This record gives sequence, C-alpha cells and structure tokens, in this order.
Amino acid sequence: MPLRLLNHFLSKEGFDKDLTRILFTIAHAGKYVAHAIRTGDLGLAGTSNLYGEHQVALDVLSDKIFTEHLKATNLVYSIASEEQDNEIVLNNKAAFSVAFDPLDGSSLIDTNLSVGSIFAIFKNQGFMGQKGRDMVAACYLVYGPRTIFVCALEDRVIEFTQNELGEFVVSKDNIKVKSDSKTFSPGNLRATIERDDYSELVSHWQKLPLTLRYSGGMVADIHQIFSKESGIFTYPSFSKYPNGKLRLLFECAPFAFIAEKTGALAVDEKGREILDIPVKEIHQRTTIMIGSSNEIGKAIDFLN
Ligand code: AHG
Ligand code: MN
Ligand code: MN
Repeated sequence: MPLRLLNHFLSKEGFDKDLTRILFTIAHAGKYVAHAIRTGDLGLAGTSNLYGEHQVALDVLSDKIFTEHLKATNLVYSIASEEQDNEIVLNNKAAFSVAFDPLDGSSLIDTNLSVGSIFAIFKNQGFMGQKGRDMVAACYLVYGPRTIFVCALEDRVIEFTQNELGEFVVSKDNIKVKSDSKTFSPGNLRATIERDDYSELVSHWQKLPLTLRYSGGMVADIHQIFSKESGIFTYPSFSKYPNGKLRLLFECAPFAFIAEKTGALAVDEKGREILDIPVKEIHQRTTIMIGSSNEIGKAIDFLN
C-alpha cells in the first residue's frame, strides 16, 4: 500500500523537513479547530478585533490553537494573525514566519456553511516588505461536511481529506485549474449599486452559460475553483471598503500563491498580480480577482 498519509507523503516527496513539519502541525491543529466548530460554544467572546468586528469565541479559540501548536514546533520565528493586532515573535532563533486567518467565515457558523483557516508561510524573519512571491508554502483547511487540507509547495498543489481515523490522506495531487471558467462567485455584489463596471462584469457572467456558486466564505468559494478545476471569485472595492475587504497577508496572498501553482491567476481589480504586492502593514487589505486565467483577463478588461 503506497504511503498516502500527509506526513509520510510530504517526507517521501523530499520537501524541506522543517517546512513539512510546520505543514503537518497546521493540519494536526486543524483537527482541534474542526472539533471546536462542531461542538463549541457559539456565544460572543465579548471582545473585538482591530476592525471592530465581534470576535466569536471560536475565532479566539482557533487563534489560540494554531498559535500554541506553531509555538511548540520551535521552528517559527513569528506569527501574524487576523485576530492579533501585531506580529508576535515566538522564537527569535527560528527561520520561518507564518501569517494566518485562524477562522475565516466565522459569521457563517450558525448557518452551518463551510468555514476555513488560511496560512502563508515565509522562510524569513518577519513579514514587512515581503511579497506573496517570497512565500515558501501556503495552505488552508476547509471545515465542511469533511475536513480538507490543501497545501502548495514548490510547484505542487496537493489536497488531503481527513479519513474516519482522523488522518489526512491524499485525495488529489498536482491540482491544475483550466483557463476557462464554468462558475462565477461574485463577492461584494453591493458594489454594483455604485459601480457600473462591476455591474457590467456580473451581467457578462450572467449572459454566459456560467453557474453561480457563492457561499460568502472565501475559503469554500475559492476551494471550489481548485476542486472543480475552474471558476472565478472576485471581491472588488466600493465606498465602504476603498481597498477591498479581504486582507493581503492572511487571505489573498496565500490563495494567490496556491492559484499560481495551479495555472490560475490572482490579481487585484487593477490587474496587478497579488503576489507582487509588498506587505506594508500586517492588516493591509486588497481587492482580489482569482481563478481561471481567461475569465480573469476579461474581468480585468471590464474593470479597467
Ligand atoms: P472573516 O470571517 O475572517 O472576517 O472573513 C470573512 C470574509 C470572507 O470569507 C468572505 O469572502 C467575505 O468576508 C464576505 O464578506 P461580505 O459578506 O461582507 O461581503
Ligand atoms: Mn477571513
Ligand atoms: Mn477570520
């Protein structure tokens, strides 16, 4: 029987040992987060994060779970989390820095839609001035009917699905996204009230034989592009979010890193590659358009 379990698979493929250990630790910690989502308290923690949003108990708990597990590896110089105001140094002798959104889509938990966790991994001490392109790996977990872990390292994107024993088993290797799209996932549709260009882009999709697939959680909305090997997800700006809502370091850059390995594209609404945007602030936002390359090209034309 070939070795298809996460830790065996990554070590057999000869990827960097320390990086493999960080990825394995993230996937392992994700099991505790998945358990907390299934069984945990949905009450408000009574605190708010930098954006003044309520942090539900699960956001805080997920943040703690990933932080503690990453700290225990002794491999991580610093972390930056959507739920923490500043970068936190864990081990000043270590080589890696990990940025993460510990729980994305937490407002969907009561509706029982899929949520996730997203990670950007740099082999560098700290994040300032780094670009998405400087990452050595990115990964995410989707907590849906099944828990799925997807990672991108070197030139590969690999999907692992949790089995009945709690182990992550390879379910897809070397994921590639086609250049034409079959679905569209238009985030921030309220921008169409103010923006004729976005309204026209959405009408363009509606006139094509594309299927609308949008959950409101970017992890599931972008995961389906990788899973179905085609699609487009957009989150443009409007007056309330002049730079978009989604964060560069915790959300957009890691997905852009994964997308690039699959042959998909990830740009901001001006058409600049997300991977080329330098990190100036931990909580910096960006607009994003990600997915099948032909459809991204057309979207850039509509918005510019
Ligand atoms: P988070 O739960 O980490 O704050 O992020 C939620 C994000 C993302 O998952 C989704 O694409 C976006 O918010 C949707 O926002 P709106 O429904 O406000 O457009
Ligand atoms: Mn998020
Ligand atoms: Mn979050």
